[in-house]
Amino acid sequence: MLKLKRERMATTTMNANALLVAITLALLTCSTRCIYSAERRLLVSMTLVRNAPALGAFCLDGSLPAYHLHRGFGAGARNWLLQFEGGGWCNDIESCLERAKSRRGSTRYMTKWEVFSGILSNNASLNPDFYNWNRVKLRYCDGASFAGDAVFKNGTSLLYFRGQKIWEAIILDLLPKGLGQARKALLSGCSAGGLASFLHCNNFTKYLPSNASVKCLSDAGFFLDERDITLNHTMRYFVKDVVSLQGVGKNLDENCTASSLDFPELCFFPQYALKFITTPFFILNSAYDVYQFHHILVPSSADPHGHWNRCKLNPAACNPEQLNTLQEFRRDMIVAMGLFYKYSRRGGLFINSCFAHCQSESQDTWFSADSPRVHNKTIAEAVGDWYFSRRITKEIDCPYPCDTTCHNLIPSTQALVQDLRSH
Ligand SMILES: *[C@@H]1O[C@H](CO)[C@@H](O)[C@H](O)[C@H]1NC(C)=O
Ligand SMILES: *[C@@H]1O[C@H](CO)[C@@H](O)[C@H](O)[C@H]1NC(C)=O
Ligand SMILES: *[C@@H]1O[C@H](CO)[C@@H](O)[C@H](O)[C@H]1NC(C)=O
Ligand SMILES: *[C@@H]1O[C@H](CO)[C@@H](O)[C@H](O)[C@H]1NC(C)=O
Ligand SMILES: *[C@@H]1O[C@H](CO)[C@@H](O)[C@H](O)[C@H]1NC(C)=O
Ligand SMILES: *[C@@H]1O[C@H](CO)[C@@H](O)[C@H](O)[C@H]1NC(C)=O
Ligand SMILES: *[C@@H]1O[C@H](CO)[C@@H](O)[C@H](O)[C@H]1NC(C)=O
Repeated sequence: MLKLKRERMATTTMNANALLVAITLALLTCSTRCIYSAERRLLVSMTLVRNAPALGAFCLDGSLPAYHLHRGFGAGARNWLLQFEGGGWCNDIESCLERAKSRRGSTRYMTKWEVFSGILSNNASLNPDFYNWNRVKLRYCDGASFAGDAVFKNGTSLLYFRGQKIWEAIILDLLPKGLGQARKALLSGCSAGGLASFLHCNNFTKYLPSNASVKCLSDAGFFLDERDITLNHTMRYFVKDVVSLQGVGKNLDENCTASSLDFPELCFFPQYALKFITTPFFILNSAYDVYQFHHILVPSSADPHGHWNRCKLNPAACNPEQLNTLQEFRRDMIVAMGLFYKYSRRGGLFINSCFAHCQSESQDTWFSADSPRVHNKTIAEAVGDWYFSRRITKEIDCPYPCDTTCHNLIPSTQALVQDLRSH
């Protein structure tokens, strides 16, 4: 998908030539933990969490968890932005074993330098409100949105489902580095990381000084408990498997699980967990989130003959019936956010109608001359207005195809062969 493509591009720029230019630039512009690529992209190095084993925190394969920290400066020196990396989930032993051998489940296979762009950029003209904060990217290597706590062991195979411990280990590592004295903080994340932001928001607040301003943001993490086009609960079954395999249940919000005793795993879905979050929250999502469209609403199992293939690649190619199905999906999403929209006084929303997935991490969707807008406001402006209480920000765009600010956001054909696990 779009994001995977970008990550691959990030790796290819790290060839020998680019690295040479980058190192030269580094001498001019940066301290030891970051460099600029040839295209002046900020690259930040990985920090392994050395104390993680003492806390039982491991990636799926047993490797050390990690994050990337770029220090804040000036007026932002005591403010902290934490961003959960995304990347799908794994729901059975087989797929988790596969994942453990890839960058999704092991820091051994991850890029050791990450591009910091969009909400992570350090450039005031590209990221006006957060550029000078301490910015941290938490690497995702557990497969359950940083929320599992279990181990699988059968003599020949060993898998660590320790996402919750990874979250705690990273926070404990950052507290003495200044997070513990934060004045302002924002917990964010995209996709499976956006879901992690819902799941860990209350807990995050408890670690910070009581007089700090703490808020949370989810980008493309509002995964709906929605039936697919054959009326099968594909997503609900998948979530149930993730939660039980990885021991997530005990880490879900207790008040939420207490209120849904028959189906405690439903508290993995933001629409049920949301009302138990007491920290101010911002929901950024497309009403036609491409990932949800392709994997929740029209998974390939529900469309074996590929009737939706053209529509999946280009909404202009959808027939009226398909468009109607997409409009119903949008309505269901807005209904699921209804109480939050109406009653949350400190909450914010930006629900646009672009066929996108993750809009805060890449510069072109976060803040640029031609990035998506609602009421002429970019996502960076909407999030900043909400965070700093400059004005109430609850934007829901009109239905497709009214928005003229979306472009080039349709994912590659690759998306058609992926399933829920792989993103
Ligand atoms: C910040 O971004 C602007 C706009 O892309 C660019 O002109 C400027 O050179 C960048 N500044 C730094 C320090 O990279
Ligand atoms: C352990 O589980 C893996 C994956 O399911 C399987 O391939 C392997 O045969 C199992 N080993 C034993 C000893 O049961
Ligand atoms: C919070 O309280 C501490 C200790 O009294 C103080 O040093 C700090 O400046 C306060 N922070 C804010 C954001 O007011
Ligand atoms: C955060 O959650 C974990 C797991 O529930 C818990 O052990 C920890 O005490 C919580 N942290 C705080 C500061 O409440
Ligand atoms: C419903 O989805 C589940 C999970 O993907 C699958 O195992 C099951 O076969 C599906 N049932 C039907 C009737 O399609
Ligand atoms: C559950 O609700 C009670 C009462 O509102 C509150 O004191 C408690 O902190 C909540 N527990 C969690 C885990 O949020
Ligand atoms: C939209 O915002 C831009 C600045 O971001 C401004 O130049 C333009 O005039 C605005 N357009 C409208 C129609 O308000």
